[in-house]
Amino acid sequence: MEAGNHTAVSEFLLLGLTEDTELQSLIFSLFLSMYLVTIRGNLLIILAVSSDPHLHTPMYIFLSNLSFTDFCISTTTIPKMLVNIQAQDQSITYTACLSQVCSVLIFGGLENGLLAVMTYDRYVAICHPLMYTVIMNPCLCVLLVLFSLSISTMHGLLHGLMVLRLSFCTAVEFPHFFCELAQVLKLACSDTLINNILVHFLFTILGASSVSAIIFSYTQIVCPRLRIGSTGKKY
Ligand SMILES: *[C@@H]1O[C@H](CO)[C@@H](O)[C@H](O)[C@H]1NC(C)=O
Repeated sequence: MEAGNHTAVSEFLLLGLTEDTELQSLIFSLFLSMYLVTIRGNLLIILAVSSDPHLHTPMYIFLSNLSFTDFCISTTTIPKMLVNIQAQDQSITYTACLSQVCSVLIFGGLENGLLAVMTYDRYVAICHPLMYTVIMNPCLCVLLVLFSLSISTMHGLLHGLMVLRLSFCTAVEFPHFFCELAQVLKLACSDTLINNILVHFLFTILGASSVSAIIFSYTQIVCPRLRIGSTGKKY
């Protein structure tokens, strides 16, 4: 490990889902097939959207972005688990573990943001159909995706940097099949108060903003009388 006192261990252990060898081979084939289906499905969606000009509309472009994040999340976690089961080895290096923590936060956050953006897109399409092409112009689409990406990247990197400050003493065993922020914080042996405050604060803000955007769009869609600008005298 490099000089500095942030960590005393260079390796963590991922205990996986079970210790039972027979169950492990079942889990291996189950996860391998689910992984292959996920990868194939997501790549097909991305390929279909990019190759068919009829699908170059905001809804399908966002969908293809969503597939891309799904692809990235599964690819940063599942293959490592499969390799570990196959090699009967539970170790993961400190760097790999930290990159898993960051990438799950980044792509998970991006997925969250994209879902909010996609409901907003449907809200505009249903409630303001005549203005749809004006409002959801390509420039706004790129901005919305870039906005979600930058927020989730900053969020992931911030938590990653905060984990770098922590030290881990004994052989750290995660009762999980990938490195996840909450487990990492739980197993650190230095003070994680600031980390925990930051986790609760940021997750609440980001979660609440995307959930409220989704609820707003759906209420506008299903209750036309609540629509902004509607006088309720349409009957
Ligand atoms: C994601 O969205 C952006 C902005 O709309 C677009 O330019 C890009 O091609 C999309 N990426 C994928 C993989 O669909």
